[in-house]
Amino acid sequence: MRAATLRGTGEAFVTEDLRLRDVGPRDVHVRVAASGVCHSDLSIQDGTIPHPLPAVLGHEGAGVVLETGADVTTVAAGDHVVLAWVAPCRACFFCLRGRPELCEHGLDHAFAAPYATAPDGTAFLAAFGTATFGEETIVPERACVRIDPAFPLELGALVGCGVVTGVGSVCNSARVEPGASVVVIGCGGVGLAAIQGARLAGAAPIVAVDRVAAKLDLARRCGATDVIDATETDQVEAVRGLTSGRGADFVFEVVGRSATIEAAFEMTRRAGTCTIVGAGSPTDMVRFGALQLMVGAKTLRGCVYGSTDPARDFPEIVRLQQAGRLDLDALVTRRIALDELNDAFRAMHAGEVARSIITY
Ligand code: APR
Ligand code: ZN
Ligand code: ZN
Repeated sequence: MRAATLRGTGEAFVTEDLRLRDVGPRDVHVRVAASGVCHSDLSIQDGTIPHPLPAVLGHEGAGVVLETGADVTTVAAGDHVVLAWVAPCRACFFCLRGRPELCEHGLDHAFAAPYATAPDGTAFLAAFGTATFGEETIVPERACVRIDPAFPLELGALVGCGVVTGVGSVCNSARVEPGASVVVIGCGGVGLAAIQGARLAGAAPIVAVDRVAAKLDLARRCGATDVIDATETDQVEAVRGLTSGRGADFVFEVVGRSATIEAAFEMTRRAGTCTIVGAGSPTDMVRFGALQLMVGAKTLRGCVYGSTDPARDFPEIVRLQQAGRLDLDALVTRRIALDELNDAFRAMHAGEVARSIITY
């Protein structure tokens, strides 16, 4: 099968033929139909997020089950599935406490052994355990969630990371209430999904912040009531102006940089909640005034994968899209072939796209 491989940090993707390992008793062999290109892939490629290489990246995918291991019971050949990049074990400390997104074993399979080999003998890890930048993949059963076969797999792919991360950060992690004021900094695929989540939750105003005008237009389509171009306006002052000088009830940082995290915290009202959704570099340090931390009485929290339970949330997101309550089409900027991946990364780096989707 063909896959886009990454052999070293900062290198370009190369499309090559790989041989998949054998399917284990609890594995599922999937023909990938579509994969989104998410910023976390870019962060691994450029070294912002450390990850062992060589590997095949891609963690936002959907496809059709080709074959299943002997012990697999929840999916069968022909099923349409969305892949999860955390495969909850359902038995660890966090799974038992209703936090499957933090499963202690949810990524074990990604690092345990290579999933495919090139003709020259190079072995590749499946990054995030999903490796959706390839025509086929092998994932544990728990990383597969069956969805309605009538649902377009291109949109299904987006459900697997960006959509549940964005919508989930608002609806599961922060639990935004109707009428709350919300700010979302960063209007890429994940931020636009967060804006749609805020619309679903009945928030108002919903303020979108970005540096790219086209993203702010998209943000309006996704439910933003106000937009701020951070290249032209002091975003903290602008948010105060929209919230009676107090700051917003809920702020979501969906960029992953210390400067935007500091701005997000500052524009959160006293006793409000600031949620960090963006995945930054481990060496990018954030600064807060010690007194302000106490006086502000704010909640600052991280949020992994939109606090998602894939088995619960993937079918629900599909249902909300089918009912017209989400607009996942708004997130699709362009469809590409696998060998156009390097240009998709350039476009993402330049902020040109919400999502590029590889269709196989
Ligand atoms: N201020 C405002 N917006 C910014 C800034 C900034 N300083 N820097 C970048 N942006 C905007 C970009 O213009 C772009 O629209 O943030 C957006 C980021 O979007 P994408 O690159 O599409 O990233 P996305 O896939 O949405 O992921 C966002 O969430 O899951 C994490 O790893 C992911 O950290 C990443 C974040
Ligand atoms: Zn992602
Ligand atoms: Zn677990």
